[in-house]
Amino acid sequence: MHRELVEKLETLRRRRRAVILAHNYQPPEVQDIADFVGDSLELARKAMETDADVIVLAGVRFMAETAKLLNPDRIVLHPVPDAGCPLADFLTVNAIREARREHPGAPVVLYINSHLDAKAEADYIVTSSSAVKLVSMLEDDTVLFGPDRNLADYVAENLPGKRIVPVPLHGHCPVHQYLITARHVEEARRRYPGARVLIHPEAPREARRLADYVGSTSQMVRYIGETGAQGTYLLGTEEGLAYRARKLYPTADVKPLNPKAICRNMKKITLRSIVEALERLAPRVELDPVQAKKAREAMERSLEMFK
Ligand code: 13P
Ligand code: SF4
Repeated sequence: MHRELVEKLETLRRRRRAVILAHNYQPPEVQDIADFVGDSLELARKAMETDADVIVLAGVRFMAETAKLLNPDRIVLHPVPDAGCPLADFLTVNAIREARREHPGAPVVLYINSHLDAKAEADYIVTSSSAVKLVSMLEDDTVLFGPDRNLADYVAENLPGKRIVPVPLHGHCPVHQYLITARHVEEARRRYPGARVLIHPEAPREARRLADYVGSTSQMVRYIGETGAQGTYLLGTEEGLAYRARKLYPTADVKPLNPKAICRNMKKITLRSIVEALERLAPRVELDPVQAKKAREAMERSLEMFK
């Protein structure tokens, strides 16, 4: 059955001139058939570079929306539209406008894990791998940052001269907030003495402080390669990243820090849902054109800063 589905997918991929972009947390069956697997920044860059007629985004909603806003004239398919990101749900347009009133002149820097209407209000858009660097390049002392309070805190920790105001106060990713904690790090270190611990910046400060390395999903994978890919590496993030890392570095003993850290939304995408989407050329991502234009400007302004 699996083989039949893969064969069907190959035919459709060719016929539709499609590219399949998958996030590092996707299930193995999806990572295995993707044209590219990466973190949020890499997915955005790939979406920008592609000349395919159709982009299939295997990830959560904001990733598919990002691909579409960078490719207004291409067909972008998100195979399961209700695969959302609960972190994005924390931020409303009203909260951003209120924060701007309270801090006139301060730029709004939004994590890419946000909805399109919020992005349309942003000056800059960052990912976990670009947040510290981009904010460090801004001249402003005060920066409004949302919706992840842990990433905001991570930026503040790295840039002590800046005042980072979290918008809203308590935005978080439930997977990282509750399943990648200091207690999980301590337990894992007891169980695997000598292991290197890598933590995503969406995890709480107490967990990050106990890490050997903090970075985005793809930065964590690169760290394994840069440190020789020998011995045990515990990945303090969603469990799907371990599959990706093991595939790239088979000599390393890679384990999720907490195998129960599962993003249910990421796992809604299946091989079958991708085949069906390519067959029907649906569900397509359609965006409000005014919001998309504003969000694209913020996104392009941010990507330009790294050129
Ligand atoms: P990365 O950009 O590090 O892959 O993070 C995406 C995400 O949703 C983390 O939970
Ligand atoms: Fe959103 Fe958290 Fe899932 Fe990442 S792991 S997509 S931040 S809910």
